[in-house]
Amino acid sequence: MKTRATTVLLVALGIAFAGNTVSAGANGLSGGAEPASASPYVVGGNDTTAAEHPWQVLITNNDKPWCGGVLVHPMVILTAAHCVVAGNGIPWETNAAFNFKAYIGRTLVGEGGQELDWGSSSGEPTYSASTETNDWGFVSLASPTSAPTLKIAGPKERFLWEPGAVTVVSGFGRTTETSGASTTLQEVTVPIISDTGCGAYADFFNPASMLCAGYLEGGKDACNGDSGGPLSGAADLGVRRLVGLVSTGEGCARPNYPGIYTRVADPAISARIQQQVKAIEDENHFPAAYRGISIVGSGAKPIGCSSATKASTRATKLVAAKKRALKAARKSAKHHRIKAAKKRLNKAKGNLRKAKAKAKEVCS
Ligand code: ARG
Repeated sequence: MKTRATTVLLVALGIAFAGNTVSAGANGLSGGAEPASASPYVVGGNDTTAAEHPWQVLITNNDKPWCGGVLVHPMVILTAAHCVVAGNGIPWETNAAFNFKAYIGRTLVGEGGQELDWGSSSGEPTYSASTETNDWGFVSLASPTSAPTLKIAGPKERFLWEPGAVTVVSGFGRTTETSGASTTLQEVTVPIISDTGCGAYADFFNPASMLCAGYLEGGKDACNGDSGGPLSGAADLGVRRLVGLVSTGEGCARPNYPGIYTRVADPAISARIQQQVKAIEDENHFPAAYRGISIVGSGAKPIGCSSATKASTRATKLVAAKKRALKAARKSAKHHRIKAAKKRLNKAKGNLRKAKAKAKEVCS
């Protein structure tokens, strides 16, 4: 029942973005934009390209930038619930005032890339517009895209979103609290912040479905229009994983108000999202080749793990070689040769111990 009034309000105010702003009222629809002071709330990112973020989706409403999204499956976009459904859970698209399109492969907001074949959208049923919890939703495509997908970090890939982990958020959202959409895709690096250290949000921050990232000193953050877009981390061997979706925040880049992201890599949530994607595959009768697709990653290791593992394997082989050398020296029965071989073996063993410890440290 709220949908109609909300729509009229959105249209009347010409609000360009889906709004999920902490300071907004119960329906979270104020669109954000009331700077608390005169500081320039620059989001602090830099220009980037679709080539760097090939899974980044731009959702437009009536051909104006509306939200971000991330391709997690050749036929499914993951985005924020508030981007696709109203507070009552009814999809915005059921109202004629909304006209969504989705693009992938865009570096510039108004051109390039490909339009995706929008099928239908849905929000997580437990999404709450008042508490802004469980903020994830889906766009199911009517035909597949060959664009690269980004997998959600798996249960054993927790290192990617531990406090302090370096993550990147991207989108066409505002570059200041009051500006319009960015003309060029932006990215900004933000560290993950612990659940208990998320600035001044107090009880609003709910770690059951929210993940905190950014800087307590402010200056770098996602902003309106970035919602639903990816927060991702880098693993070893060039692998990237999705760890969050832009969800909400008090203003943008304000001190003590870091960004709040949907905690998609939490095993409880990623399992649920995987189930929901499975249901979408079945209900929308995806072609056989697009069924049973795993959208949760596994096996990614921290950066440097692979080379540390290789170094440890090499050190193991070296110890074996030095053992053979010692055996040969013993056969020769030459005291000085035996002594030297023992010394080399001990050195190799020492190196192996160090290499193993190092690999354990980097890989865990
Ligand atoms: N709700 C906003 C949107 O719809 C995103 C807000 C993110 N804000 C932040 N400070 N990180 O686009």
